[in-house]
Amino acid sequence: MPFQPSRRSVSTALLGAPFLLKGQPSSNRSRVKLDPERKIGEIDPKIYGNFAEHLGRCIYGGIFDEGSSLSDSNGYRRDVEKAIKDLNVTLLRWPGGNFSSNYHWRDGIGPRDQRPARLELAWGTIESNRFGTHEFLNYAEMLGTEPYLCANLGTGTWDEAQQWVEYCNYPEGTALTKQREKNGRPKPWRVDYWGLGNEMDGPWQMGHRTADDYGKFTLEAAKMMKWTDPKIKLIAAGSSNYNADWVGWNRTVLQYLAGHADYLSMHLYVGNRKNDYYDFLASSLDLADKTKTAEGIIRSTLTEDPKAPAIHIAWDEWNVWYRARGDKQRGRRILEEKYNLEDALVIATFLNTFINYAHIVKIANMAQIVNVIAPIFTNETGLYLQTIYYPLQLFANNSFGTALQLEIESPTYESQRFGKVPYLDISAAHKDGTLVLNVVNRHRDQGVEVAFEAQESKFSSNFEVSEVNGPDIKSENDFGVTNVKVTKKSTQASGNRLTYRFAPHSYTMLKGTLS
Ligand code: AHR
Repeated sequence: MPFQPSRRSVSTALLGAPFLLKGQPSSNRSRVKLDPERKIGEIDPKIYGNFAEHLGRCIYGGIFDEGSSLSDSNGYRRDVEKAIKDLNVTLLRWPGGNFSSNYHWRDGIGPRDQRPARLELAWGTIESNRFGTHEFLNYAEMLGTEPYLCANLGTGTWDEAQQWVEYCNYPEGTALTKQREKNGRPKPWRVDYWGLGNEMDGPWQMGHRTADDYGKFTLEAAKMMKWTDPKIKLIAAGSSNYNADWVGWNRTVLQYLAGHADYLSMHLYVGNRKNDYYDFLASSLDLADKTKTAEGIIRSTLTEDPKAPAIHIAWDEWNVWYRARGDKQRGRRILEEKYNLEDALVIATFLNTFINYAHIVKIANMAQIVNVIAPIFTNETGLYLQTIYYPLQLFANNSFGTALQLEIESPTYESQRFGKVPYLDISAAHKDGTLVLNVVNRHRDQGVEVAFEAQESKFSSNFEVSEVNGPDIKSENDFGVTNVKVTKKSTQASGNRLTYRFAPHSYTMLKGTLS
């Protein structure tokens, strides 16, 4: 359960994208240059993924609530389903997390009433297994999202992982495909994304191993899984334990798995434990730094093994998480973090970072989708949308295509952990002429005016403006109370100039065209 520590300060000048121009102005005015031909890479829609773990009330009492008047005849909560659909979740990871390291998928198939209840050791509950492979994969189909299954490489075996692929993806003719058919699913689902265990470098993990032991063990599982279905993509468990030698773990694991793994998984949770707004708002600089380091490790591994196919980064758990955690966090109603406006702004800066590293970050899953450190929060009679829902919704429904390289001139502030930090955090997505600019103004008290200058191109005259903001950085939402929300307006551009004043403590999306 990593909490990202401040290991060393990160200078913004080290970051790959965007570039900060020299000569920062002291006033709260800024300049951003962009050019449709200056590209970072293609934005993979799978960066708008999410995660559903058997943990607290994420599954039971969250997406699945048998007997509730809010659920359909299969037990899925209709209100939650709608809120997830509105988030445009592109990839949904399941069943864990830590839970996956002692999950035996065969417990969760067949008639629901005959499935075994098991003691669940990751989070200290009894797992009924009423929600299993069929319930999850049918749900992903209903949502129109890609499923991503995390195999048990903790207490599980090679056979078990291989046979899960066969059960889900193999067309017909084997005992397992017949069993699938008997359980109500003649056709395979086609699960393309498979995790090779979860956080295996963490001592908190069941089946925790050294990097060498994990690499050797996982290589055999990976071979058998790909021989069962060569089309699948495998996600290796990179390090998430930043107190240890995380760079060394990633290097060793990739040396074993290059040629088999398609992604390196990393996790990052951040928080505002010291109640230092400006430091907390700079957390995405740590994400960028870790992304660059991991990219370097991937590149050096692939240099040693030039025939191995590309490996990309999967930030397959990320979020703000610091209040509802600790050793005593076990049992049914746990990890129910309540989010405020500053958390929502950090979420927007993380999404900006995924776009600004679009060439290497190809998967990201916010952890998690409902109730447990989540944008959607339920009770027996309804739900509300937490503050962090809104930036994710705006990004996931709008920011696609090519990530553009920006040149940003922004006023800065001094942060204790990160040194000089720009007040502005920006990304740009360009698809078929449509331009989306995502701008976080980290300034708590002042607006910042930005002059966008298009090079070799022109803006449309009208830009839609969607602003996520609230009365105060500590404002929260609740049942029947929406303090933090999206406000819509519009603004005008002229030729290659677009000037807009971004409100204090805000995330704003500007949408128009650039051609
Ligand atoms: O998302 C909550 C937990 O955080 C996950 O189970 C684990 O992978 C991580 O430590």
